[in-house]
Amino acid sequence: MQQRDFGSTGLKVSVLGLGAGQVGAETLDESQAERLLHRALDLGVTLIDTARGYGLSEERIGRHLAGRRDEFVLSTKGGYGVEGAQDWTPASIRPGIERALRTMRTDHLDIFHLHSCPLETLQQEDLLAELARAREDGLIRVAAYSGENEALAWAAGSGHFGSVQTSVNVTDQWSLHHALPGASARGLGVIAKRPIANAAWQFAQRPVGEYAEVYWERLQTLKLDPQGLDWTEFALRFSAFAPGVSSAIVGTARVENLERNAAVAERGPLPAGMLEAIEAAWAAHGQTWGGEV
Ligand SMILES: NC(=O)c1ccc[n+]([C@@H]2O[C@H](COP(=O)([O-])OP(=O)(O)OC[C@H]3O[C@@H](n4cnc5c(N)ncnc54)[C@H](OP(=O)(O)O)[C@@H]3O)[C@@H](O)[C@H]2O)c1
Repeated sequence: MQQRDFGSTGLKVSVLGLGAGQVGAETLDESQAERLLHRALDLGVTLIDTARGYGLSEERIGRHLAGRRDEFVLSTKGGYGVEGAQDWTPASIRPGIERALRTMRTDHLDIFHLHSCPLETLQQEDLLAELARAREDGLIRVAAYSGENEALAWAAGSGHFGSVQTSVNVTDQWSLHHALPGASARGLGVIAKRPIANAAWQFAQRPVGEYAEVYWERLQTLKLDPQGLDWTEFALRFSAFAPGVSSAIVGTARVENLERNAAVAERGPLPAGMLEAIEAAWAAHGQTWGGEV
């Protein structure tokens, strides 16, 4: 598995990361979660992304991977869900980080994101100062922002963050065009979330109310042609090798899909002709589409 510099943070991350949202689902039993997490590391995945809000995910990462902590870069998110502290206040930051450290049985978080807060929140100086203190004190290695559009652009140019996490896929290219060129020039690490567009192509009918609905609709409009590749391969080779992206964190609850994704990530970027066709479809239809949180 290809390993890349995570911007100029000094960390290295695999081209395919594991989005551990699905690992937090109660419908996934404990032994399946354990197998999935270990298989990811065995395949050379060295970035695991979780969040305070992903159900059992942080707890399971701690339970099953504490003994292999030095084998991966641990990324989580917070700013909310801390007992006794109002969400998005400076008082929520350190206790939230300390809670994540206990839950994941580690003494440091490699990457800690403010998780999708709006621009006004992001610009609060006392919040940013608290985040910087956590980094100076060694509780976190990289202070990061996860989000889209104007807030993302501000975060990427602010100098307060060492990395960003943002949606990058064939149907969601706002960041790719508007934020990532500047972010990578400034040495920020970039995590591509929702990198296979929530596998929206698998739905024969509009998945009303599902996470994938917007992407499903965009796919109908873009009319992309994977030219014989399966859709997962088409989507993942686009996002994982998009300019500026350090790692693409596909979310999965299934070992067989994780293994397929790892194999696909070995195949490198899509051929130039396919990239040109995707670019032309985006130029024709996607210019007004924002990034999806
Ligand atoms: N910061 C944020 O606000 C935010 C928001 C969204 C996501 N994220 C992060 O990004 C990660 C990925 O995003 P995501 O899960 O929303 O979207 P995604 O990775 O684009 O798509 C995940 C979906 O694709 C399916 N899938 C995975 N591999 C597959 C394969 N080889 N063949 C067919 N289907 C496959 C998964 O189902 P199976 O489980 O059946 O494999 C799941 O339904 C999350 O886990 C999370 O870490 C962060």
